[in-house]
Amino acid sequence: MEVVIAPAAELARLAADAVEGLLRGNPEAVLGLATGSSPLAVYDELATRHKEGLSFARARAFMLDEYVGLSADHPERYRNVIEKEIASRVDFVPGAVQGPDGLAEDLPAACAAYEQAITDAGGVDLQILGIGTDGHIAFNEPGSSLASRTRIKTLTKQTREDNARFFGGSVDLVPRHCLTQGLATIMAARHLVLLATGRAKAEAVHQLVEGPVSAMWPATIMQLHPHATVLVDDAAASRLQLGDYYRQTYADKPDWQGL
Ligand code: GLP
Repeated sequence: MEVVIAPAAELARLAADAVEGLLRGNPEAVLGLATGSSPLAVYDELATRHKEGLSFARARAFMLDEYVGLSADHPERYRNVIEKEIASRVDFVPGAVQGPDGLAEDLPAACAAYEQAITDAGGVDLQILGIGTDGHIAFNEPGSSLASRTRIKTLTKQTREDNARFFGGSVDLVPRHCLTQGLATIMAARHLVLLATGRAKAEAVHQLVEGPVSAMWPATIMQLHPHATVLVDDAAASRLQLGDYYRQTYADKPDWQGL
């Protein structure tokens, strides 16, 4: 696991560099897209680079998760969020960005179909991730099976409170259920790039990088991934025991070595 501690704008550039490098090498790459505040600066950077010539026209993308039951036109439906924040700002072809169907009549079948779609696409090359204050990735809440696949999950009170800011501050408007890629689904991606900023994420980042691998902090499964990159600002890094070592490692990193 590589840990980079840097100002937020630099983190966004590094993540965008990884996406751009991937697409330049393989224009048909499969991206994994996350919602939440953490990746927004990366999406801004990618939109800028698209204007400068970076094309997504042959790429595909899979979303991590989706609320159950939000209407098709609800602004917080993750499909609509991803459309607004990134898909509509670059040149993905229609249908190239897929997400779990939170409006399906048969939700378990929709989860199975989603797993199959990812497999049929050849798997995800680069997965962008955020992290919840309780250590969730996608919507894999504490207690999630470390071997889980796409399924229905019940959101914790903490996550619903955290996400109430997107629903006019009303926790009652935040759905109680979601569909989410499982931890094993995420682990199958070939490169994981997680972004976290702000002091509220410090404990989750400490557990993710330095805690024991445990379903209580689902993101800790990333310690078992052969190519995981954790991009954090000073505040999110503030509880890391080996923070100085990660800073030194990054400062000493050869220029030719990308993420
Ligand atoms: C949400 C999303 C996650 C996201 C996390 C953190 O609940 N399902 O994919 O990583 O919470 O969100 P934020 O980046 O806004 O802090």
